Amino acid sequence: MSTNAPVHLTTAWPVFFGHAVTVRPLLPTDADLEIELGRSLSSESLHHRFLNGGIKLNPRLLDRLLNVDFSRDLALIATATFAGAETPLAVARYARLDDDPHAAEIAVTVADPWQGYGIGKRLLGRLIECAADAGLRRLLGDVHATNRRMLGLAGALGFGTRFHPDGGHLRLIELALDGRVAPPHALHEVNDL
Ligand SMILES: CC(C)(COP(=O)(O)OP(=O)(O)OC[C@H]1O[C@@H](n2cnc3c(N)ncnc32)[C@H](O)[C@@H]1OP(=O)(O)O)[C@@H](O)C(=O)NCCC(=O)NCCS
Repeated sequence: MSTNAPVHLTTAWPVFFGHAVTVRPLLPTDADLEIELGRSLSSESLHHRFLNGGIKLNPRLLDRLLNVDFSRDLALIATATFAGAETPLAVARYARLDDDPHAAEIAVTVADPWQGYGIGKRLLGRLIECAADAGLRRLLGDVHATNRRMLGLAGALGFGTRFHPDGGHLRLIELALDGRVAPPHALHEVNDL
């Protein structure tokens, strides 16, 4: 177990289809949840998340996803308890750029059955709050040009979209966080999704 996990970032969304949702840092002990989330993903979701169609959740990748260096990066998992079992809904993460510690790359994955219900928007919103609180000034992401949902979500949260230097199949999304003030407890006040 990571000793420096920022557990104080844990929040609760009151109701999601009648179930409480917890958002908390992803821990090294969450392998089963990460695997379950990975198994829920269609090849299209995997293609959009990892920007290539062939990737599988192998032990090396799992290890990398689970062992977050919380002194610089963050991964948040949203879970709900269904029939007594903690169920993964989504994971969002940022990782600081090596050449600019005030900038980070973001990624977000919602389990396929739960896509389109506002979870991605809400979890990425929470990640943005945490990034601003951690002193980050810029969030960036590589998104397939065909990923209308992610581009729409990013636009709804204030990201700008540009052509990507790596090619026309990609878009670069970017959000400036300078001066951004997170509304306190904004995510606690919503009663349903
Ligand atoms: C992309 C993804 C994260 C979005 O999460 P989600 O929970 O499905 O999306 P939401 O329901 O929160 O939708 C959020 C917003 O996206 C936009 N959106 C949703 N579907 C859209 C579509 N088909 N076209 C355009 N915009 C769309 C809307 O602005 C929507 O907000 P609104 O419902 O208030 O209008 C999720 O679908 C996913 O995990 N996809 C596979 C992996 C991936 O593509 N990750 C992104 C790579 S970084």
